Amino acid sequence: MEGVQKPQGSVVIIGAGTQGRRLAHMWSSRGGTVRLVDLQEQQLQDGLKYVEQLRADATDHEGDWGRIETSQPSSLQSTLKDAWLVVECVPENLNLKRKVIAQLDELAPESTIIASNSSSYGIFEILEGMSLKNNKRVMSAHCYWPPETSAIEIMGHKDSDPKLIDLILEQCKEHGFSPFHVRENSIGYIYNRIWAAIKRETLLTLSEGVATPEEIDAIFKDVLKTPKGPCEQMDVVGLDVVLDIENHYAESRSGIPTEPRDYLRGMIQGGSLGVKNGRGFYDYEDQKK
Ligand SMILES: NC(=O)c1ccc[n+]([C@@H]2O[C@H](COP(=O)([O-])OP(=O)(O)OC[C@H]3O[C@@H](n4cnc5c(N)ncnc54)[C@H](O)[C@@H]3O)[C@@H](O)[C@H]2O)c1
Repeated sequence: MEGVQKPQGSVVIIGAGTQGRRLAHMWSSRGGTVRLVDLQEQQLQDGLKYVEQLRADATDHEGDWGRIETSQPSSLQSTLKDAWLVVECVPENLNLKRKVIAQLDELAPESTIIASNSSSYGIFEILEGMSLKNNKRVMSAHCYWPPETSAIEIMGHKDSDPKLIDLILEQCKEHGFSPFHVRENSIGYIYNRIWAAIKRETLLTLSEGVATPEEIDAIFKDVLKTPKGPCEQMDVVGLDVVLDIENHYAESRSGIPTEPRDYLRGMIQGGSLGVKNGRGFYDYEDQKK
């Protein structure tokens, strides 16, 4: 892994869902080839259409777009043969992530960087108990949604090769991301941790009866000049997803209060999941019509 230079070759994306197709767009934006891999042909076709749309919308783009080739996981070894980077974007399931990363470590050339886009699991958690051929080239590269959010957080682990972290930070910038380096092992990424604290304190404030969702959102927006308050934002994410994320923090760290989770559980048991089922902190029934 000595003397890593500007990378040659393709970027391989495993999983052509919400994030994978968006990453295919970004990593092909400077002319490089992207190979998009998914178990489902329909996802690959929808992914290609999505990239076409993003390219059509990108009025200020200069230079050539790279090619995007699609394939199935059954031909992974040949897909990976010229990859300088492979990013896994499969669903958020720890066992699946571990299985895919073990496979990539086995099949990818020694110099290929392996990155995970997992939202909840930092790379050091994914690698726990795994024995890889070369774990120095494995890292987290976590980006956000919607696609116009350029932030991406890069997190290595205790054995990471610092030259590869530098290379990824530089290449992310080159491809239109705003990269941030998570400098230590962290349960949650930089932004997620801050947002988790805001959600937690919001739920605690509600559980104590200190203020209503409307009042919390109104004061938050007034002071910080943001378009949405924390209750509105939690409704968009989905209250079950918010609870899963908070459960993960509570399992991994000490000192996380129980009241915010109890409050969320009460809402979920009462049938409130947020925008997706028409009822959360606010009523969205009208939007479903
Ligand atoms: N959706 C978001 O806003 C968001 C934001 C940041 C990070 N993430 C992370 O990105 C990852 C992917 O999330 P998503 O929302 O894109 O999921 P998604 O469900 O939209 O897409 C996952 C894709 O992976 C495919 N897949 C499943 N197993 C596979 C395998 N073994 N090989 C190849 N393809 C396989 C599925 O067919 C599907 O197309 C998750 O780890 C998630 O935490 C998502």
